[in-house]
Amino acid sequence: MNTLTNKRVLLGVSGSIAAYKSPDIVRRLQDLGAEVRVIVTDGGKKFVSERSLQTISKNKVYSNLWDKEAELAMSHIELAKWSDIVIIAPASANTIAKLCHGRADDLLSTVILATDAKVMLAPSMNQQMFASKAIKDNLKILLKRGIVLIEPGFGEQACGDIGEGRLAEPLEIAKQAADLFTSSSLSGKKVLITLGGTIEAIDPVRYISNHSSGKMGMALAHECIQAGAKTTLIIGSISIDIETRAEVIRIVSAEDMYKAVMQRIESQDLFISCAAVADFRPKNISNNKIKKNNNSVTIELIKNKDILASVCQLNKKPICIGFAAETENLIDNARAKLASKQCEAIILNDVSQSEIGLNSDENEVHFITKEEIVKK
Ligand SMILES: Cc1cc2nc3c(=O)[nH]c(=O)nc-3n(C[C@H](O)[C@H](O)[C@H](O)COP(=O)(O)O)c2cc1C
Repeated sequence: MNTLTNKRVLLGVSGSIAAYKSPDIVRRLQDLGAEVRVIVTDGGKKFVSERSLQTISKNKVYSNLWDKEAELAMSHIELAKWSDIVIIAPASANTIAKLCHGRADDLLSTVILATDAKVMLAPSMNQQMFASKAIKDNLKILLKRGIVLIEPGFGEQACGDIGEGRLAEPLEIAKQAADLFTSSSLSGKKVLITLGGTIEAIDPVRYISNHSSGKMGMALAHECIQAGAKTTLIIGSISIDIETRAEVIRIVSAEDMYKAVMQRIESQDLFISCAAVADFRPKNISNNKIKKNNNSVTIELIKNKDILASVCQLNKKPICIGFAAETENLIDNARAKLASKQCEAIILNDVSQSEIGLNSDENEVHFITKEEIVKK
């Protein structure tokens, strides 16, 4: 199943009787990996409590455009920018009409105008209302503008009528949202990604390693899988969950990682070298734990093989993307790395900034090729 891992979903709940199902929609979105924030309209609040939505979403629920404190914490514009996708479920006839006319007289309709995220609508209303010419025309206009419709179901309704207009099932809403992030741009392609830190033994209990969490590599794995690639991960030391849809090889040292990559590289279309591979390892690994009898110990280090450069030198090599974690002369150092490794691109991380550096959930990178530098 496609997922919503790392996706920020803004759920708009409007005044349909089916709003009582919205906590379940939050749950299903979270089950697929999304972080969910909720806006509930005044109409929506008549059918579901803000407290339920807040407890289940684990976030403050937004509702009043004029709430001074809420605006200070996260303004309607920030909320609009925060969202990767906005889903209005249930979408009432009234809210659909407001969106159609571009009105902005409450928080939800204002955010919809202010966002450039994809918007999905799951209408829910009485079958006669849904069949009305006004609703049909409004939906036609919204579809033309790129809004995605989650079709309502057919069946018995809260009012006792039977017909089309029931809110789509919460799981179906979550699945359709996940499908929206899936492309087929890497369909049929094979991607190999290394991630995490390597561990270089000093003695049976001590080692040299680094702070790599593996977050970047796992996020890339997720995107490659969503884009249809058969994705293999060679994973060192990490502190996060592993993407279950990838083929996974666990390794310890840089030497292990080198061997694991070389065994599989020939059949790959794309190689992303994301791991924080130790440049050096102890020349000799002590068979026994080194005693602390002396005031100082000298450990001689020797160079590890350069995995990315080795892959780039192969006659039959995939497209190769490397990473550079730099603290100074960022662009110059990354360009030098691009030239020396002879890979197709380098993704440059500024690890001197803690908010976007190692272990951070946020990132800002430069994507550097021979031809261009793009800031992301
Ligand atoms: C008991 C009751 C149930 C309602 N159910 C629905 C419904 O299922 N769908 C709908 O579009 N409107 C329904 N309405 C009407 C909306 O709640 C009303 O149009 C409201 O203004 C919508 O506000 P909103 O779009 O800002 O949330 C219902 C009203 C009542 C009193």
